[in-house]
Amino acid sequence: MKTLQVVKGMRDILPPESQWWRAVEGALIEVLESYGYREIRTPFLEPAELFARSLGEQTDIVEKEMYTFTDLDGGQLTLRPEGTASVVRAFVEQNLARRSPLHRFFYLGPMFRRERPQKGRFRQFSQLGAELIGAEAPAADVEVIDLLLGLAARAGLEKLSLEINSLGCPVCRGGYRGALVEYLQSRRDRLCQDCLRRLQTNPLRVLDCKQEACRQVADSAPHTIDFLCPACREHFQGVMDGLQALAIPCHLNHRLVRGLDYYTRTAFELQAQSLGAQSAVAGGGRYDGLIEAMGGPKTPAVGFAIGLDRLLMMAAEKGLPPPVASDVFVAVQAPGCWSEAYRLMRELRQAGLRVECDARMGSLKSQLKRADNLGTPLAVILGEEELAAGEVTLRDMRRGEPDEQKQRRVARQGLAQLLLAMFRGKGENITKQS
Ligand code: HAM
Repeated sequence: MKTLQVVKGMRDILPPESQWWRAVEGALIEVLESYGYREIRTPFLEPAELFARSLGEQTDIVEKEMYTFTDLDGGQLTLRPEGTASVVRAFVEQNLARRSPLHRFFYLGPMFRRERPQKGRFRQFSQLGAELIGAEAPAADVEVIDLLLGLAARAGLEKLSLEINSLGCPVCRGGYRGALVEYLQSRRDRLCQDCLRRLQTNPLRVLDCKQEACRQVADSAPHTIDFLCPACREHFQGVMDGLQALAIPCHLNHRLVRGLDYYTRTAFELQAQSLGAQSAVAGGGRYDGLIEAMGGPKTPAVGFAIGLDRLLMMAAEKGLPPPVASDVFVAVQAPGCWSEAYRLMRELRQAGLRVECDARMGSLKSQLKRADNLGTPLAVILGEEELAAGEVTLRDMRRGEPDEQKQRRVARQGLAQLLLAMFRGKGENITKQS
């Protein structure tokens, strides 16, 4: 029979790599919580209209990358391609502005974009995002950028470049757009087919086209920051001053426009050369008009999302940490002892120990061999003789000495407490009498 395969651009994450994902996610959540960010969980499915209205009809994502289907009742649903739109929907729908003037959210989970798969680019990928809602002042932009760098540092990433730009507000954007279109029209003959189309629909996107000829045209294009109105200029200066106060180096990138239409003012990306073509580990910016455009009260906001697949790829280049082994392996000498083994394992787990057994119920020898392969430091052996005496045998799996020296009998009663004390204090001598 033909075996089934995973969907193109999607993948399985197996242990021990999955354990490593969990550990990194846990460490990053600690950082987020230390900045006052709290988790928001939104559904993976949203009305298709949410993304068309927030990301923009003329973005790559909405034009060609969304997994959208017709539900049985005729509604159009989309697997979320990013998290900001959903956070904004929830904010407006739950009337969160009434609860507090300022909200700090983070989210973590799968996103779906039907892009062409390549190194670091998947059709299902994981994002960790943070959104600071309710603050217009540069201090908010500085906070989220500092947070992003704090997260990257916690993951051990090095040699990153923080790229920054200001896209202005709708007022100054109008002036910029006019100047850009005029400039691009004068160089139409050098633009690719896609950019000729973008020139009509979304000219800012020409600036981040990857084609070499378009890049050259973009290099000499007018700069957004030269068209900022006084308020946007002052805001951008405030952000740059804040970054300087924190000694955060950044590179003013005039071609950084981001691929989503909701951005205003500050836009930024964290890039890593080691990732090759898909160099952005994270991207974000300010979206002061989005909440109002989605039917909420006028509310400024700024945030970012990290691509966890890319972050972990970079961290993995330094070598994966060893897999997490169980603390105790319960081995059963005689078939009649399994009932007691079930009870003992439950008891040890409830006491907080990580406990495993060989559920194939084979010979004691094969069970201990498995414990050895797994790297479990300690085995608890249950045999008829021990149980009759109200005892169990402890076996130190890390010692290569003769059996008498690595094994000892202890009372079955109070075993959990004994093992906990051993693991807490004197891990090295787990079979020696204290
Ligand atoms: P984005 O730049 O589209 O921004 O995505 C953020 C990050 O997600 C990227 O820098 C990249 O690391 C990762 N990513 C995107 N697409 C893929 C893919 N196909 N495969 C693997 N990783 C990918 C946003 O999504 C905005 N919502 C960020 C934001 C939050 N802006 C304000 N708040």
